[in-house]
Amino acid sequence: MTYAKIISVGSYTPTSILTNYDLERIVETSDEWITERSGIKERRIASKDETSSIMGYKASLKALKRANMEPKDIEFIICATNTPDMPFPATGCLIASLLNIKVPCFDLEAGCPGIIYALEMARGLIESKIYNTILVVSSETLSRYMDWTDRTTCVLFGDGASAFILSRSNEPGIISSYLGGDGSLGHLLKFPSCGSKEPASIYTLKSKSHGVRMQGREVFRYAVSYMADACMKVLEKSKLSSEEIDWFIPHQANIRIIEATAEKLNVPRDRVYLNIHKYGNTSVASIGIAIDELLDSGLLKKGQNVLIVSFGAGFTWGSMIFKY
Ligand code: ACO
Repeated sequence: MTYAKIISVGSYTPTSILTNYDLERIVETSDEWITERSGIKERRIASKDETSSIMGYKASLKALKRANMEPKDIEFIICATNTPDMPFPATGCLIASLLNIKVPCFDLEAGCPGIIYALEMARGLIESKIYNTILVVSSETLSRYMDWTDRTTCVLFGDGASAFILSRSNEPGIISSYLGGDGSLGHLLKFPSCGSKEPASIYTLKSKSHGVRMQGREVFRYAVSYMADACMKVLEKSKLSSEEIDWFIPHQANIRIIEATAEKLNVPRDRVYLNIHKYGNTSVASIGIAIDELLDSGLLKKGQNVLIVSFGAGFTWGSMIFKY
């Protein structure tokens, strides 16, 4: 049987740290409120020169190094991002240029689960034997999309990137996946301006629509329900029980969402990977950053079963089980 196998992961996060105490000086908030409601203590903020393509490129270099590969070994690039450098050229193309390779490349925008959607697209291209080796990048520069006067959103997000290399294999890699979506709920989490509906203008600046708008409580409710459901569906498809999952790596949006989902699935705390306190919500990048940390620390070992799940703007959601 032909599998798409994740053979390497890398990540990159900016060095500049914005703590909850720093935020207390920007908006009316407190370390106590942010920690209690979200689990976040600090987040990384891209410097002026760091964009989604630059961070994605750096994450890709780390993934290539871990795999002992060269950029020329990559045949295709998919970049999941909600914060591209610009509408076009695609951030994936900018990353290909930085890697100095000429390969097909495109961006995929599907909220935070964009990374699971992108891995699923790569899996399809590999399992159908169209390509052998694909680089999937997930990169976000969310700090540039925040309204830094809106305390209900600006305290939650951070910047970062991750990169996955997938290759064709006869050994089990991606075992199963599940994708979902409900566009009728899109208004609950959106970035209203700068698109064709509301192009950037003096009016969008005045109305501050250049910032993420979220009805947090509603998003929270749907996130818990859809993430747990997506995990159950993918476990069922894989014919695995939650006891057979070595690592549960949920999208890092809110510690309470993660804990509620893990509880519904009966996954013990020591198998749930958490780094939200360090990075906040880095959207598409969060799962890859977590996997890269697990690999760096030697905690994720070859042959272990990993369950990833995400939920976000769209609404979209998705889950995947793979053997590393
Ligand atoms: N500091 C202090 N007080 C605050 C802050 C803040 N930063 N933000 C809001 N508050 C206040 C509110 O104004 C409200 O005050 P009020 O009762 O006087 O009106 C009170 O705190 C409670 O606000 P809630 O919004 O009800 O707080 P809640 O417990 O729901 O937590 C949060 C808010 C953290 C946003 C939560 O709802 C959440 O995490 N939602 C999900 C977000 C998410 O997961 N997004 C993922 C998708 S992201 C993507 O796809 C890009």
